[in-house]
Amino acid sequence: MRKLCAVSVSAALFFTLALLILSLSTSSHRRRAVAERSWGSDTHESLFNPRRRELVDEIEERVEEIIRYQEPVRRPQPVGGSDPDRVRESSFGRSHTASDVFSVLWEKARGADDNRIRGALGCSDFRNITGIEFLGSGYTKTVLKGNLQDGTGIALKAVNSQGNEVMRCIRRYGQARDCYRLAAYKIIKEITLLQKLRHPNIIQLYGQCYDNSLEDGPVITAVIELGTPVEMIKLLQTPWEERFRICLSLVKLLHYLAHSPLGSVLLLDFQPHQFVIVDGELKVTDLDDVSTEELSCKTDSDCVLEFPTRNFNLQCGAEGKCQRINEKRNLYNAFRFFFTYLLPYSAPSALRPLLCEIMNATGDLRYGINKTLETFEEVLHLYKSGLHRINRSQSWLEGYKIFEGFRIQENSDYKCWPSYNHQGCLLSVHNKEEAAAICHSQQQCQSFIITQQTTWPGRYLVSFRSSTDLIWDINSTVYMKSSSLRALM
Ligand SMILES: Nc1ncnc2c1ncn2[C@@H]1O[C@H](COP(=O)(O)OP(=O)(O)O)[C@@H](O)[C@H]1O
Ligand SMILES: [Mg+2]
Repeated sequence: MRKLCAVSVSAALFFTLALLILSLSTSSHRRRAVAERSWGSDTHESLFNPRRRELVDEIEERVEEIIRYQEPVRRPQPVGGSDPDRVRESSFGRSHTASDVFSVLWEKARGADDNRIRGALGCSDFRNITGIEFLGSGYTKTVLKGNLQDGTGIALKAVNSQGNEVMRCIRRYGQARDCYRLAAYKIIKEITLLQKLRHPNIIQLYGQCYDNSLEDGPVITAVIELGTPVEMIKLLQTPWEERFRICLSLVKLLHYLAHSPLGSVLLLDFQPHQFVIVDGELKVTDLDDVSTEELSCKTDSDCVLEFPTRNFNLQCGAEGKCQRINEKRNLYNAFRFFFTYLLPYSAPSALRPLLCEIMNATGDLRYGINKTLETFEEVLHLYKSGLHRINRSQSWLEGYKIFEGFRIQENSDYKCWPSYNHQGCLLSVHNKEEAAAICHSQQQCQSFIITQQTTWPGRYLVSFRSSTDLIWDINSTVYMKSSSLRALM
C-alpha cells in the first residue's frame, strides 16, 4: 500500500513537472518551431533576427559562466579582458546544438557529483519520494518538499515555468523552449556551485536528475537538504541566543564566501528569502544569482558601493579591481537585512557594548569580514563562559532552599518572554546562580528546576515556576525561594 502510494506520488511529481513545461509549450507551438532549431551553424537564418540573437547571446553567457565554475583554473587571459569566443570554441565549438551543450554541462555536473558524494541521489530515487508538497517559488525556480524512503526530508528544485525569469524572457523573445532552457541553465549553475562551495552554512546538494525522455524538452531537478524558509517576524520572537546564532551563521558563511575556492563570491540578490533555517542554523539556498567577478576600475571614483540609503567609496587596487568589493557588499547587506533586526534587541546587557561595536563597525564598513567574525567569536566566548554576567559578587542562590529528588507538579504555570516553550517560562542559563538571579527578578517565580536539556552554546534550560507543589522525582532537583517556603509554613 505504502509502495503504491510512493510510486503514484513520484509519478505525480514527474507529471507535475512535465505539465509545467507542457502548459508553456502548447500555447507557443508555432513560435517554438523556430526556437527548436539549434543555435549552432544551422541557425543562420534565425540568427539574423536581432531579438533571437540577443537570446542566444544570453544563453551563451550563461553557458560560459558555468564553464568557468566547472573549470575554476583560469586560462591565461588576453590583454584587455577575457575572450568569451575562445572559451566557447575550445569547449564546444560553434557547430554544437543547444541540447549538446546542455547535456555536456549536465554530464560534467553529474560527473563531479559521482566523484565527490558516494550514493548521490539520481533519477531512479525519484520513484520512492513520497509526501510531495509545495514549499516555495522565486524568480526562477519552484521548490517542492518530499520524503525519501528512509523518511529523510528533501527539497526538490526545478524551473518555475510560470516564474518571472521564464515569463520575462518569453515576453521579450517569444521563444518558450529556449526561455525554459535559459532558466534551466541557472539550475545547472546552482548545482555546479553547490558542488564547488561546501560549507555548513550552504545548503547541501544530495543529488540531481536530468530527464531527457519528455517530448517537450529535458527537465532538470536538484535534490537538496530540506530547510524552513526564513520568516523575520518569527525570528524576532525567538530568544536572543537563537537570533545571535542566525547572525553568526551568516558571518561564518560570508567569511567562507570571501575566501572561497572560486574567489570572493558575491550574493547578488541578498534577501532573507534566499536563506533557509536547518536545525537553528542559517543556510543559503539560492546560489544561482551570484558572481565571482570583482568590479573593474581605473580610479577610486569607479569604486562606489551603492545602497538605497548609503554609499561607500572604496579604493581601486593595483590590479584594476575595486578592493574587496564583493566581501563588503555582502557584509553591508548582512548588516541591513539581518543584524539590524536580530542582533541588538534584548541582548544580555553586558554584551551590548561589544554588539554595539559590531553594529557600528559593519554599518560603516569599518570592519571587514575577518574582523567581524573575530568579534562575533568573542561575543560567543563571553556568552558561553558566563563572563557576560555582571554583579557576580551578589549571590542570589543563598535565598533558595534545595529539594533533591523532587520536581514541581505539572500544571499550567506562568508564561514569560522569550520562553523556549509556549506553555510556560523556559529560559537558558549559564549556571544555577544565574537561574536564581532570574527567578529573583520575576515576581511570579517561586521555584525553578534545571532540566537535562541544553541550548546550542551549551547553556542549561531552566523551568521557572510559580507553583510550590512538590512531587517525588529521583532525577530532579527543585530550588525554591526561601520566602515562598516561609509562606507555606
Ligand atoms: N532547501 C529548501 N528548503 C525549504 N525551502 C526552500 C529551500 N530552498 C528554497 N526554498 C524556498 O523556495 C523559495 C525559492 O527558492 P530559490 O532557490 O530562492 O528560487 P529562486 O531562484 O527562484 O529565487 C525560497 O525563497 C524558499 O522559500
Ligand atoms: Mg530565490
